[in-house]
Amino acid sequence: MKNNNHPIGIFDSGLGGLTVLRELKMILPNESFIYFGDTAHLPYGAKSKETIIKYSHQICKFLIKKKVKLIIVACNTASALAIETLEKYINIPIINVIDPCIQHAIKTTKKKSIGIIGTQATINSKAYDIKLNRLNNDLDITTQACPLFVPIIEEGLTNHQITKNICELYLNKQKFSEIDVLILGCTHYPLLIETIKKHISKKIIIIDSANIVAIFVKKFLYNNKLRISNKNQQYIKYFLTDKSIQFNKLASIFLKEDSLKIEFIKL
Ligand code: DGL
Repeated sequence: MKNNNHPIGIFDSGLGGLTVLRELKMILPNESFIYFGDTAHLPYGAKSKETIIKYSHQICKFLIKKKVKLIIVACNTASALAIETLEKYINIPIINVIDPCIQHAIKTTKKKSIGIIGTQATINSKAYDIKLNRLNNDLDITTQACPLFVPIIEEGLTNHQITKNICELYLNKQKFSEIDVLILGCTHYPLLIETIKKHISKKIIIIDSANIVAIFVKKFLYNNKLRISNKNQQYIKYFLTDKSIQFNKLASIFLKEDSLKIEFIKL
């Protein structure tokens, strides 16, 4: 039996997945969502593959107990390191943030030269390089790990001078001089997009997973006949594994919601 009226589960290590949720809310206004932020274990980008798999699997099991009809891994680090295991053990549809973005990047690049910035774990995994090369083995790929971006965003320091200095350090103009497309390979990074834009050439097209993944999810629901049929019950519930002042602040501003229903749980 199809569970069309059940919510969509979406998870990240913290508030980065809200960038995806915001787009989903706009594109799919009648759907309900359960957002899971693993704030107790953030950042994932500095953790081992085994640990990322363990947390991601526990979150998926939690979301399945909440009867979600689909899970969106709104975290590039978990998408890079845990997706194969999750696909093996999770028996409901699961969408990662990497595949829709690489397809879009390949269609967009004219110079066949793509840059990727992400967490240390995502970049070290080479998940983007491998998947891009599978689709086109004639690409130049330039990658850069930006381990300080996630803590800066979680601390709400996106407009601080320190952020500009760190952008200068990571987004070396010479290193990225050949690319014409830059993938923001972390769902936190759209929150830093204005500062990132100031540090790269204006000619570079930035690919932000949020909108691309939301469009992909809409098509997926449509193609798999999973769209909600009861249109009067839209809700969003939030589950966090630890308190986070920034999460409340940002989620209310970002998602334009006055009061968020947040529950704290232990994995
Ligand atoms: N938003 C997560 C990602 O896309 C951040 C990972 C982290 O917690 O370091 O990779």
